[in-house]
Formats: sequence, structure tokens, C-alpha cells
Amino acid sequence: MKVLRSTRELDGWLKEEAGGSIGLVPTMGALHEGHLSLLRGAKERSDRVVMSLFVNPLQFGPSEDLAAYPRNEARDLALAEEEHVDAAFLPTTREMYPGGNETKVTVGSIGDILEGVSRPGHFDGVATVVAKLFNLVRPDLAFFGQKDAQQAVVVEQMVRGLGFPIEIVVCPTVREPDGLALSSRNAYLSGEERSRALALWRSLEKAKAAFEETGDPLQAAATGRETIEAAEEVQLDYFEAVDPVTLQPAGAGDVLFVVAARVGKTRLIDNLSVEARGENVR
Ligand code: PAJ
Repeated sequence: MKVLRSTRELDGWLKEEAGGSIGLVPTMGALHEGHLSLLRGAKERSDRVVMSLFVNPLQFGPSEDLAAYPRNEARDLALAEEEHVDAAFLPTTREMYPGGNETKVTVGSIGDILEGVSRPGHFDGVATVVAKLFNLVRPDLAFFGQKDAQQAVVVEQMVRGLGFPIEIVVCPTVREPDGLALSSRNAYLSGEERSRALALWRSLEKAKAAFEETGDPLQAAATGRETIEAAEEVQLDYFEAVDPVTLQPAGAGDVLFVVAARVGKTRLIDNLSVEARGENVR
């Protein structure tokens, strides 16, 4: 595996490796099985896999965990190597944002709902770094996790809106055996908080069951909300039933339940999509 720390090195590698398809897996490091599943998906679908590792300051709010974000480069590189990644791209902030970060991608109203309410500017930061990575790496395919459902939708909209010739592949959420979605931020949880955090998965499962029983996404979301509110020391941020493609309030058809809650100081998100049964489709 080549470790590339500048765009110059990346350019050199891309020239050497010309021909064949390139799959890009953007990450912020602190790799876990969720990230590894994207690397495996990329390996299956592309001739060469590039993993980027960059903790993007532009997508963190002023009171968020940029400084504390878990970093372990040596471990991440070893894991990527085990997954047969062809090149790891680890640019510096100066390399990614030369002369500051004046030029940005704005994603519009999709960035103002759900996660965007408590994280203003977050999705502009994500879209800007992803656009930059797309321009530098010029992949044929790029892999994202369903775990960050809104991020995947934002990237898909950007690709359509700006005409990037890149196929976006969204890979399923990887969970612990008890249902907790893997996340780099789980590292912040104490043992007790880890058990409390299961309320997110429980709330999604209950909403799913309610939806399958009643066909009513609003009532199902209310069930999900109640589950979180009943959980000890878990603060609900939102629990909504939305359309999986537009993220607008769910109507007829498939539903994506999305949840965000705070466990101690750690803010966690999760989601679950449920297909509408024939009789629910109006
Ligand atoms: P990061 O949080 O490191 O996640 C990198 C990729 O891994 C994202 O596409 C995310 O959705 C996916 N992922 C995280 N947990 C997962 C899980 N449990 N199952 C499946 N996939 C999972 O998301 C980012 O970084 C950044 O915003 C980034 C896209 C790199 C831009 O800076």
C-alpha cells in the first residue's frame, strides 16, 4: 500500500496506475468494521482502492469535537493494508485548503434539516471536502455508509448537481451484535453509556414494528420518540420518519426512520429504512 501525503505524490501515483477503475473511500480515520466494510465493497467493485484519511476541520462546529476526535494513524494504516487498499491519501489541512478555505460548496436546504439543525454548516463542510477529494483522486466510484444517511443523500445530490462523473455506492450500516451502529464516536462512551446508547437501535426497531403493523409513519415515529424519551439519561434530539431519497417527511411508500440523541456528552445518530407493504402504498 502506498502512503501518499501530498497532492503531488497522489498525482504521481495516479499517473503510474493509469487504466482500470478507481474506487475512493473517504474517511476521517479511527477505522472500525464499518469503514472496513466500505473498503471491502470498494475492493470488489474497483481495480484500485484509494482510502483518504483526513479529519476535515470544515465540517466541525466551533463547539464540536475536532480537537478530541480519535486519531490513530499507525493503526488505521495497518488495517487499510490488511484490506489490500492500494493507496492511502493523508493530506495536511494546508494541502486541502491552501490559503484558507474561502471556496466552498453549499448544499442548500438539504443541509438545514435533521442533522443540519444542530450542526449548521456541517454539510457544506462535508460537500466541500468530498468535492475536493473527488477532484484530486478522480475516482470512478466512491463509497459511503448508510450509517450517515443524510451525508449519503447530500453527496448524491452534489454529484447530480455539479455533474461529477462518479458512481456513488451506499453500503449497509455495520452493527455490533446487540444492534449498536459502529461509530468512531462510540469510543467516547463509558460502559454504562454504551448500554444506554442501545436505546437508539431499540427505538428504530420499535418504530419499524409499529410501521409494519399500522402503515402509519407518523405514528411509528411517535413510538420511536417515546422509546428514547423513556430511556434513562438519553436526550432525544430528533426522531423522524422521512422519505429515503429526499429526506422530506415520509408520505406513501418506503420510510427511513432517523434518530439523533445525546448519551452523556456524546451525540449519536442512527437510521433504519423500512419498505412499505403493498397495502401501505397509497
Ligand atoms: P467517517 O465518520 O470516518 O466515516 C467514513 C465513512 O464510513 C462514511 O461514509 C460513513 O458513513 C461510513 N461509516 C461509518 N460508520 C459506519 C457503519 N457503522 N457502517 C457502515 N458505514 C459506516 O463520514 C465521514 O467520515 C466524513 O464526513 C467524510 C465523508 C470522510 C468527509 O470528511
